[in-house]
Amino acid sequence: MTFSEKFHLRIPGPTPIPSRVQQAMNQPIFGHRSQEATQLIQECSQKLKPIFGTGQDPLILTSSGTSALEAAVINTLSPGDEALVIVTGSFGDRFAKIVERYEFTLHRLDIEWGKSCSPEQLRIALQQHPKTKAVFVTYCETSTGVLNPIEELSKVVHTHSEALFVVDGVSCIGAVPCQMDDWGLDVVVTGSQKALMLPPGLSFIAVSRRAWRQIEQNQMPSFYLNLLQYRNSLSQSTTPYTPAISLLLGLKEALCMLEEEGLEQVFQRHELLMSMCRTGVQSMGLTLMASKQDASPTVTSIYGGGAEAWSSEDVRKHLKQLRVLVAGGQQHLKGQIFRIGHMGYCDSLDILTALSALEIALTQAGVPISLGSGVKAAQEVYLHHV
Ligand SMILES: Cc1ncc(COP(=O)(O)O)c(C=O)c1O
Repeated sequence: MTFSEKFHLRIPGPTPIPSRVQQAMNQPIFGHRSQEATQLIQECSQKLKPIFGTGQDPLILTSSGTSALEAAVINTLSPGDEALVIVTGSFGDRFAKIVERYEFTLHRLDIEWGKSCSPEQLRIALQQHPKTKAVFVTYCETSTGVLNPIEELSKVVHTHSEALFVVDGVSCIGAVPCQMDDWGLDVVVTGSQKALMLPPGLSFIAVSRRAWRQIEQNQMPSFYLNLLQYRNSLSQSTTPYTPAISLLLGLKEALCMLEEEGLEQVFQRHELLMSMCRTGVQSMGLTLMASKQDASPTVTSIYGGGAEAWSSEDVRKHLKQLRVLVAGGQQHLKGQIFRIGHMGYCDSLDILTALSALEIALTQAGVPISLGSGVKAAQEVYLHHV
């Protein structure tokens, strides 16, 4: 079909790939122990530092984001250790499941889905579990579109405990500020297929000095996910196992693009995309899941199909016919919400396109909206911004 290649990927990852990155990945392959490879690894690790806001060398794993979550758990906790997991949605729940699977003692701090964890809620939980060795949190909870207040939560962890603070930043690092060293974050992980504008397949882990001390004492057996091995190899600008060289070539290009735009500018762009998306959707009469204060600049969750007379799954089907792909809800939110991703290689016109398609899809699904209302409101946000 003529247009089969032309679609709008507006799910919260994987995200669209810029052609510069695509072309970089098409270069001929070379040996993973060659000088080209060591130079590439070194450059990528250096260029990742400002994205994490750290002076430490971020580690590069050839595996998806979940492997980095697992590595963070099994390298920081030893048998018998207690972990506090802040669960604000399905990815916090994943952290909890990993902790449980390895039979560490799990304390869950369950927060209502759609809300962020407050510093006070964390303070109380830490008071209840004073032996906590590490606190795990999701920076952007992709399942609800909520951004947790990481800097404030980190202060609470370090004021009220000796625990490490471990952050899953898979769906926002590279799109929102992260000052790992200044904020006292101990481990921050992310993946390639979200704000970093790459295909899936790489994950990244940055580790604080304090966390390295705990990792050096770690008693858990691990092999592929042993972070000390990655640190040793990175000190010689290599990786313990064959890295995904093509993805690394793409990574270098993507990091150059972020550098060229300027990180501050990148963060502001994501703020604008969030604001256009939220204002547009609200102006159509739809209800947002996250409050303005809790909302993530990378993904927006919208109610549809619960209390509403219409089905978000039906709307998603109509959107798909227009070749606009958005995500549904996860776990108990299946059929209750839909989610629009706006991270990475995404600009204002992409949001206007998605909103315009959404108005058509809602109308086709029988939702009484005024065509153009959302697009107009989002255009006004844009005009006000520039
Ligand atoms: C916040 C968050 N954590 C972890 C993951 C898991 O990453 P992966 O699917 O690459 O294993 C995702 C993926 O969507 C995510 O959004």
